[in-house]
Amino acid sequence: MRIVFLNPVGMIGGAERVLLSATRQLRILRPNWSLVAILGSHGPLAQELTALGVVVHIAPIPPALAQLGDTQLREHTSRWRFLETMLFATPSLFVYLRKLREVIQKSRPDVIHSHGFKTHLLTRMVSLGCHSQTPVFWHIHDYVSERPMVRKLLRHARTPRTQALAISQSVARDLAQVLPGMPLHVIPNAIDTHTFSPQGPQADLDRLAGLPASDPTCVRVGLVATYANWKGHMTFLEALARVPGVRGYIVGGPIYATAGSQVTLAELHAQRRALGLEDRVGFIPFQPHPAEVYRALDVVVHVSTRPEPFGLTIAEAMSCQRAVIVAQAGGAAELFTPGVDALGHTPGNIAELADAINRLASDPTLRTRLAQQARRTAVERFDEPRFGQQLIDVYSHSTMSHV
Ligand code: GLC
Repeated sequence: MRIVFLNPVGMIGGAERVLLSATRQLRILRPNWSLVAILGSHGPLAQELTALGVVVHIAPIPPALAQLGDTQLREHTSRWRFLETMLFATPSLFVYLRKLREVIQKSRPDVIHSHGFKTHLLTRMVSLGCHSQTPVFWHIHDYVSERPMVRKLLRHARTPRTQALAISQSVARDLAQVLPGMPLHVIPNAIDTHTFSPQGPQADLDRLAGLPASDPTCVRVGLVATYANWKGHMTFLEALARVPGVRGYIVGGPIYATAGSQVTLAELHAQRRALGLEDRVGFIPFQPHPAEVYRALDVVVHVSTRPEPFGLTIAEAMSCQRAVIVAQAGGAAELFTPGVDALGHTPGNIAELADAINRLASDPTLRTRLAQQARRTAVERFDEPRFGQQLIDVYSHSTMSHV
């Protein structure tokens, strides 16, 4: 079988990590399948895919389309701005579409698998002619209902050959409302539970954050996230201010070029200063080996202030056998059983979050019990081979019904 993956960016965010899991598993389970990826920009994703044996093409996505980010696509009020942007982007969009079509025609895919809204919107236009019957999968990583513009455009971009893959039941329910009747498969994300394991080296977080080395008994609490402004950095800082004695680490950075959609390091510094946390909270950029970061933490927090479609970091931290606190909403709420393999809190509720951090900081037995059960849950539910097999099943089924 020949698969062409489309992705709007070459940077590695959550959706891209899922794409890497997919290709890694397909390589192992179906070594003779041909895998091609067309990426909208240069970046580390190309190297990682190439290392997995995927043939990578870069077709630069027009800047006007690339910069049309979450915020604009989520706002009703930006409809005219959107149309204006698309109009300006038209010539470069044609060049981009031509390149996509060329690569697709050469690759003769049995399946086209798109990983981002921007590429979903183009699948109808690129699979014309001899590929008009090729099954197309839209991998849905986010809530479509929150993006009025995308929602409308997807309705037009859909064809009878389009099917959706949802990363959680919650995302599937949301999509079913927006695109009723569209064939929909729920394939929960997966992680590499061997890489994200309790055993292995630990990062020196204090050194990385430029903080003085802490007492070994000090409890370390950390957030690993992009700088998207709904990931709850400020909530976390406020909660830390209410739990004296623990150290806090914020690991991550900006990944999208969209203005206004992210917190900045300067804002985080200012808030740390305002809360008097300079001596016990550190900021660390994304690390090449995130498992080493989780292993160095006693408690990992997920503090998204709006419902999280899935939350890969939750699965990764659980797989590293950590005590995790989850903002309990959306797909994230499907990943754990409160009080058994993690603790929950209401998204954005500083008092509840501080209370959960406090409970875990003062009760090492509770931390160990949750962490051990978390590892069992992760191996059982988030392991990559299950994910790879589910993908193979939906691809095979779609191509069978296509013949
Ligand atoms: C998106 C979602 C996140 C999910 C990731 C991978 O970034 O916001 O919840 O974990 O995609 O599917």
